[in-house]
Amino acid sequence: METPLLLLLLSAFLLSISNICLGKDIDLISRTQFLKDGDTIISKGGKFEMGFFSPTNSPNRYVGIWYKQIPVQTVVWVANRDAPLAKTSSSTVLKITKLGGQLALVGDKGQAVWSVKTSRSVQNPVAELLDSGNLVVRDAEDEKPENFIWQSFDHPTDHWLPGMKFGWNIETGHEVFFTAWKGENDPASGQYTMHLDPTGYPQLIINNGTTEVLSLGPWNGLRFSATSVDPSSSRGIPRINGPHGVVINKKEVYAWYNLSNDLGLFRFVVTSNGILKLWVWEDEMKQWVSNRGQPSDTCGTYGLCGGNGVCNIYEFRICVCLDTFLPNNNAIATESMSQGCHRRKPLSCHNNGSSSDGFLKYSDIKLPDSKHSWYNESMSLQECEQVCLRNCSCMAYSTLNITNGGSGCLIWYDDLVDMRTVYNGQDLYIRLASSEIPGLTPEPHHSSSLGRKAKILVLCLSMLVVIVLAGVSLFLYFCKSKRKEQKLKQELELPVFDWSTISRATNNFSVMNKLGQGGFGTVYKGALDGGEEIAVKRLSKNSTQGLEEFMNEVICIAKLQHRNLVKLLGCCISGEEKMLIYEYMPNKSLDFFIFDQTRKMLLDWLKRFNIINGIARGLLYLHQDSRLRIIHRDLKSSNVLLDIDLNPKISDFGLARSLAGNATGDNTKRVAGTHGYISPEYATHGIFSVKSDVFSFGVLVLEIVSGKRNNEFSNEDQYETLPGHAWKLYKEGESLKLIDEHISDSYDVAQVLRSIHISLLCVQQFSEDRPNMSSVVQMLVNDVVLPQPKEPGFFVGRRAVFNSESSSGKHATSSLNEVTMSSLDYPR
Ligand SMILES: *[C@@H]1O[C@H](CO)[C@@H](O)[C@H](O)[C@H]1NC(C)=O
Ligand SMILES: *[C@@H]1O[C@H](CO)[C@@H](O)[C@H](O)[C@H]1NC(C)=O
Repeated sequence: METPLLLLLLSAFLLSISNICLGKDIDLISRTQFLKDGDTIISKGGKFEMGFFSPTNSPNRYVGIWYKQIPVQTVVWVANRDAPLAKTSSSTVLKITKLGGQLALVGDKGQAVWSVKTSRSVQNPVAELLDSGNLVVRDAEDEKPENFIWQSFDHPTDHWLPGMKFGWNIETGHEVFFTAWKGENDPASGQYTMHLDPTGYPQLIINNGTTEVLSLGPWNGLRFSATSVDPSSSRGIPRINGPHGVVINKKEVYAWYNLSNDLGLFRFVVTSNGILKLWVWEDEMKQWVSNRGQPSDTCGTYGLCGGNGVCNIYEFRICVCLDTFLPNNNAIATESMSQGCHRRKPLSCHNNGSSSDGFLKYSDIKLPDSKHSWYNESMSLQECEQVCLRNCSCMAYSTLNITNGGSGCLIWYDDLVDMRTVYNGQDLYIRLASSEIPGLTPEPHHSSSLGRKAKILVLCLSMLVVIVLAGVSLFLYFCKSKRKEQKLKQELELPVFDWSTISRATNNFSVMNKLGQGGFGTVYKGALDGGEEIAVKRLSKNSTQGLEEFMNEVICIAKLQHRNLVKLLGCCISGEEKMLIYEYMPNKSLDFFIFDQTRKMLLDWLKRFNIINGIARGLLYLHQDSRLRIIHRDLKSSNVLLDIDLNPKISDFGLARSLAGNATGDNTKRVAGTHGYISPEYATHGIFSVKSDVFSFGVLVLEIVSGKRNNEFSNEDQYETLPGHAWKLYKEGESLKLIDEHISDSYDVAQVLRSIHISLLCVQQFSEDRPNMSSVVQMLVNDVVLPQPKEPGFFVGRRAVFNSESSSGKHATSSLNEVTMSSLDYPR
């Protein structure tokens, strides 16, 4: 009998020690047992843990739930997010109150800091943490343990965990929705919320306050309409492997997903900046990895293109009208078409049910916002078309559920809002006047009692009318297009500012207004009399370029308009002085951010990837889409400016003459460009082509990923350049080591690996081994298989380094046709 007693005493002693030092683990909260600071509740299977915690750098204490088995504390639920405790209030406990069996955080004076409203009072209430991460309050006496009187899964914070029903209980009117944290380390309720909007046909939306900022569109049986399918080849991009879906019945409307435990840890989170992300725990790397999240790009912004507009991220102007629709505003010069589009021909629909309209099929679309919609789960597509045709407000229809060959009917009333092009997207049938539909002519309405002759007469007459009308409209069209052309010309006519205006705007070129010294001259900040902020580039005086030449070049630059290029507003010429007036970018340049220890934290991976994509698109536009074929020749981080939303805008482009003009002959004795960014063939032979820009782009991407400057990069290894270092890590399969430690907790593994891989392809020694920018843009966003890179070409000091395996007698073969130099460009 002695030994067990001793053991008991010993264990009691140990328990009391752990009580003092570490707190104790309790299995549930009951009338007699409560949770105090330092104690934890561990779920039965050991997956989750609950207790008191403080976020990094926070003065507050909270009660929360986090994963038990991983080394990174990841809080999935917070009880008192809007009623934080001071760190010193250690006497506060979480307990079951006597009255009504409520769960409450009670301070030392007995006041409740936070409490829950339970659905009924019970005999013997207990609070227990389930292995799903759900904190439940139930009656210990109840035979059915799942008969909860309260559960945290009904009151989530920002985490949507497997097994959680997200949506509406129609009977009680209770909504389960998510509210983001206020900041990365601040669990207080933030401004972003995510809902399953049950209006019309249910869809997943994110609101910023009361403004809708994202709609993932209706559920199509497999996924929400805005989310495209990642081809199965994609590595490291998390996907839900378990059952999931949207359930609609008389009692509930909810979205859910589940996973078996051995598939790992999954969590959807609405981040404090309003992005829905799926995170998956990578056990080998001991970290969370995420997908790109939604919204994934600018086109994710709710309703960006207005009614009947479609957002296409690959277009120069991302908003386009549906075919046969016209922009509501004169959108020639504006990028966004938030005012939407209208039909070229009105519908011929009468409310007595007769209509001669038809439908045109659009493919690969994210279906419109379904708030003004109606659906039927069993109708066929043909029945759907008939239903739509019978109601004059019906604008479009589609299949409701795309699984098993498609079933059901979804129809939209009023303008179609929030459409975008989506890879592997859905089909949408849009109602149009029958004359707008190819191969469909309106039913003949003339009486059949007319004789044959009369018919022929009518035919001839109508043909005549058609010919005359065609002539008239052709004439009108030419007049109109002539006018349009003139208008366009006027729009492109570059304002010439006079010296006094610019001098006044920049405080007489005051040193205080100086923004920087670029390769082409000094840049000043200024404000025009109307208050508009500008950047003035005062070109160096030692240019020998003539005035006409300068003006031609400036007009050429002014024609280049793309949202990833800095806009030229005008120029100013006075005697020897030549100035360029640009839009002002408040966030300065990329190098100001990525190479600065504190500012670089503002650029998380999502932003960096957005910047990489933006630069790629801007460069693609210069190289091929602008029809002028511009080679930048000095692409580098200080030439990439950031707008207020940290979108990249390339500057200093076009200061080399466009290739369309005088294509040969011009040459220069010195090589322009910036050390560290220039391609081997450019540095050694002065040969440059669009592929030299591709090389610079590759270096730039490596700088963005690593947060290190190429020309300051040094390593204890023999590799002295960033491309060389990246290549070495790539060969060792350690590419992730390149990543800037400041973003090491926020990145998407697949995207990072892809970006590094692409940049290595861009810095290949021989220009023909480098992709062109249109391939780069495609490779960045699609999961195409990438070619294997060879060892990159790079420079050490003034000497080109050629590697042994690829210098097989090949030469840089850029054609001389592509050689051009500009007298506006000065070597530094
Ligand atoms: C859906 O359509 C089917 C077939 O037309 C019809 O029988 C059914 O009543 C409809 N259901 C609803 C809810 O309208
Ligand atoms: C057409 O649909 C709208 C929206 O559901 C409805 O208000 C209207 O009564 C319908 N019109 C006809 C003629 O059925």
